[in-house]
Amino acid sequence: MVCLGNICRSPLAEEILRKKLSIAKVKNVMVDSAGTAGFHIGEHPDKRSTENALRHGIDISKHLGRQFSVHDFDDFEVIYVMDHSNQKDVLIKARNEHDRSKVRLILNESYPGEDRPVPDPYFGGEEGFELVYNLLDEACEVISAKFK
Ligand code: 4NP
Repeated sequence: MVCLGNICRSPLAEEILRKKLSIAKVKNVMVDSAGTAGFHIGEHPDKRSTENALRHGIDISKHLGRQFSVHDFDDFEVIYVMDHSNQKDVLIKARNEHDRSKVRLILNESYPGEDRPVPDPYFGGEEGFELVYNLLDEACEVISAKFK
């Protein structure tokens, strides 16, 4: 799961999917998140994202920000990006067509072919975080169902 800062959207996507896989008793799937930027490496998620997640029974407080690296193409089969800017920044790091084929806009899982972004909530209010939660919950439901 990849966003810009790895403190709002992607840590939430990571934990929502992890929880759904756990409920579905799906094992041996590695889920992680990263940011394309390096601003928040080693930081805990944004307080507003942590509090919103907690209201939905999801704990992202222990996550520590890290930056997306080219090695992630080797470690993961699918790289879900939140928006078109993340998509561009991740694709710049791709070494070949195989790497490029792993990169997907996450909302194409729940809204196939629409190329919808998960809006960046960082500069907005609480309603932005709630929208992000609902969009990611829908998408992760579809992703989790693939493993059943
Ligand atoms: P995220 O949100 O990409 O969902 O983690 C942001 C976090 C930090 C910044 C922008 C977006 N920033 O400009 O520092």
